[in-house]
Amino acid sequence: MVKITGLGMLDLIVRNARLVGVQGPMDIAIKGEVIAEIGPAIEAKAHEEIDAAGQLVSPPFVDPHFHMDATLSLGLPRLNVSGTLLEGIALWGELKPLLTLEAVIERALRYCDLAVSQGLLAIRSHVDVSTAPLVGVEALLEVRKQVAPYIDLQLVAFPQDGLYRAEGAEENLLRALDLGVDVVGGIPHFERTMADGARSVTRLAEIAAERGLMLDLHCDESDDPMSRHVETLAYETKRLGLGGRVTGSHVTAMHSYDNYYATKLIPLIAESGMNIVPNPLINITLQGRSDTYPRRRGLTRVQELRAAGVNVAFGQDCTMDPWYPLGSADMLEVAHMGVHAVPMTSREAMAWAFTSVTMNGAQAMGLPDPTLRAGGPASMLLLQARDPIEAVRLKATRLAVIRKGKVLSRTAPRVAALSLPGRPDMVNPAAYAPKAEDITK
Ligand code: FE2
Repeated sequence: MVKITGLGMLDLIVRNARLVGVQGPMDIAIKGEVIAEIGPAIEAKAHEEIDAAGQLVSPPFVDPHFHMDATLSLGLPRLNVSGTLLEGIALWGELKPLLTLEAVIERALRYCDLAVSQGLLAIRSHVDVSTAPLVGVEALLEVRKQVAPYIDLQLVAFPQDGLYRAEGAEENLLRALDLGVDVVGGIPHFERTMADGARSVTRLAEIAAERGLMLDLHCDESDDPMSRHVETLAYETKRLGLGGRVTGSHVTAMHSYDNYYATKLIPLIAESGMNIVPNPLINITLQGRSDTYPRRRGLTRVQELRAAGVNVAFGQDCTMDPWYPLGSADMLEVAHMGVHAVPMTSREAMAWAFTSVTMNGAQAMGLPDPTLRAGGPASMLLLQARDPIEAVRLKATRLAVIRKGKVLSRTAPRVAALSLPGRPDMVNPAAYAPKAEDITK
């Protein structure tokens, strides 16, 4: 056993933590906002200690795709009866004129409270800029300021009704960027023609290049195998040298492309260096609605993109809004659905699903590397699970949520009290699994 001494009085020590890829339990010593040291049996005193008891400590969850201007608005002014993307957009169009600054701020702040309790500490939210006045932009700029001590909130200027389809959308988008919105957004598949869609991709990529901003387009969120704007997006990313500053979100139509075209497209996406963000909870429900049977799953080609070296990060997209009646800011639920919907059940792929909602999301958002290491930011989660796969399987309880050395949230472990003759009186779901050594045989 190695003892590390000489750290002086610390602010926090997390003891007996299981870290991904590290043998044996580790102590994590935290001073101020930074990890001072990670090692076995650190000899030091701290103002606060947390015993991880051999459970997983990981970087925080990241959601690289969300719509915070619409969140928690379910039922306003009515429900989405067909469950389709297009009725969702129409319903949002009915709600938009009724939005008030106060109501959007209040709902967004409530969502952020929930997010912190779920260990979700970085969110990229699209905000509709297709119609004036820019109520959503104003509201979310205020929310970004208020939540800055606990959530990295990035905003995307999103012309929901189309850059060219909605009158004045480009002007509104530029105004939103001038006001301080971080990322350029778009929705090429919703423009009136394929040509307009392609033109919008080029224009938006040029705006991002001119302003030195990131670009994140809703791209081919459709079952139409001819919706191929991701090709233009990858081409423009390469042409303008934007690389990892660009994200193609949803990209569901790729599921319906013929295999020959996909094998030509995926290397272009990989070469461009862009990120892909699928949203499994939402697209497993929104897509395939016009199919009879068989019904397409409507998720992009996650495994093929990964194999080509593309950074793929799952997003939440919606929580209780015109497009999706469920959701709970739970990125483990997102990863869990991703495992099912792709589908991908190898040990490697399920462990990757956890990485997808932590490391890969941070990369897509252009955030600093969140790896837990000495000298790195002291932001981490203590989960009621032994490893990432178990965390995904159980949608593990977030026992402690720590950001920059401060404990933001604690949740009691999930343990049920049983009353069964001759059986144990407690069930801890994290303890109910075969031994890890047996699983990996
Ligand atoms: Fe979206």
